[in-house]
Amino acid sequence: MKDARAIALELLQDVLQRGRPLDEVLATNADLPGLEARDRAFARLLTATVLRRLGQIDAAIDARLERPLPANRNIVRDILRLGVAQIALLGLAPHAAVHTSVELVGHGGQAGMKGLVNAVLRRIAEGGPIPPEDPEHLNVPMWLWQDWETAYGAETAGAIALAHLTEAPLDITLKSPADAETWAERLGAEILPTGTLRRAAGGDVTALPGFTDGAWWVQDAAAALPTRMLGDVSGQRIVDLCAAPGGKTAQMAAAGAQVTAVDISKKRLERLSENMERLGLAVDTIAIDAAKWTPDKPFDAVLLDAPCSSTGTLRRHPDIAWNKTPADVAKLKIVQDRLLAAALTLVKPGGLVVYATCSLQPGEGAERIAALLASGAAVERAPVTVDDLPDLAEAITPEGDLRTLPCHWAARGGMDGFFAARLRRLP
Ligand SMILES: C[S@@+](CC[C@H](N)C(=O)[O-])C[C@H]1O[C@@H](n2cnc3c(N)ncnc32)[C@H](O)[C@@H]1O
Repeated sequence: MKDARAIALELLQDVLQRGRPLDEVLATNADLPGLEARDRAFARLLTATVLRRLGQIDAAIDARLERPLPANRNIVRDILRLGVAQIALLGLAPHAAVHTSVELVGHGGQAGMKGLVNAVLRRIAEGGPIPPEDPEHLNVPMWLWQDWETAYGAETAGAIALAHLTEAPLDITLKSPADAETWAERLGAEILPTGTLRRAAGGDVTALPGFTDGAWWVQDAAAALPTRMLGDVSGQRIVDLCAAPGGKTAQMAAAGAQVTAVDISKKRLERLSENMERLGLAVDTIAIDAAKWTPDKPFDAVLLDAPCSSTGTLRRHPDIAWNKTPADVAKLKIVQDRLLAAALTLVKPGGLVVYATCSLQPGEGAERIAALLASGAAVERAPVTVDDLPDLAEAITPEGDLRTLPCHWAARGGMDGFFAARLRRLP
């Protein structure tokens, strides 16, 4: 049977060498469920630590290699990465970390590299914690850093990168916001100024009080904001165009809207339906490409939470930093424009469309809105004001869009990076 370190190596190889999402490999790894809960948590922590600190770890390895590791030795590099994380970042006993890493090299069919792994990790152990110099910058790929630096300035880009080094807390949206005090006490959570409940990450979410009864769902504090930009939705017919797994659908349905949830993925829509069933919320669902959908009559409002690079969620998905590329963003921008154009045809004249993405890249946010407005489409920006979001004035841009950053509310544990713009269809 494989131990936690061997499984962490599989997880890491799946993410870094095969480009698979961390969540997916955690859910599908055949051996992980066989571990004790403590070891399972260790395998996860080890993998996530390497992904969060990859640049810093690689710099430490490279500084201790006499000559560069050939590219076809990626398994050796991944073993070294896990070893460095154990010794220099998680503070585990160097002896055990070195010994088990050397063993993994043997099992990985790289017995000839045992000496090298042993030597590099011993040098790491002698050096103590690895140099903290510029860890923010090193742990972010250059294209992401440059985009952020251009959009937000070097200081804020540094604060965003720093926020990614820490695991995000568990944020909860209540079905009945009026019961916040009661649920905060039951869940041992803090009530954030915007109404989201927040507790430390970790543990089995489904075992927490109120989960099975459908009293709440997991949703980052920033992800809960775009629907608020639609104002009071009670009694309105609203279409949620990219709806699954349904966090925003649930918010609108719980607030009394009649929601149609559209998603291109049948499988993801099934998950949405399961979530709505648990929450006791009735919504209509349609599995279709939203850009090709032609319903009989227009809606009062549209929410378009478009597919994006998700770089605003790096705290929760540290794999995204290494597996997404500028080419992905370029492709997604085309999809976002198509969906935005479709969204405008689905709302009645005078109705609101909120466009949102969980991306930090301006190309998937403000630039899409600028392109739409410049195209001459029958739409205007309906700027968000401090009255709409009194608790988050720092996240409202001069144009009146929402722009949250992972470094907002840093002392409280941060939030995901979301962009959202409110538009009004002209008659
Ligand atoms: C950011 S996620 C939505 C998250 C969701 N709004 C929530 O709050 O839980 C984007 C969703 O868009 C869906 N999607 C991607 N392309 C689409 C398209 N052309 N039409 C409809 N849905 C699409 C994906 O399947 C995915 O579920």
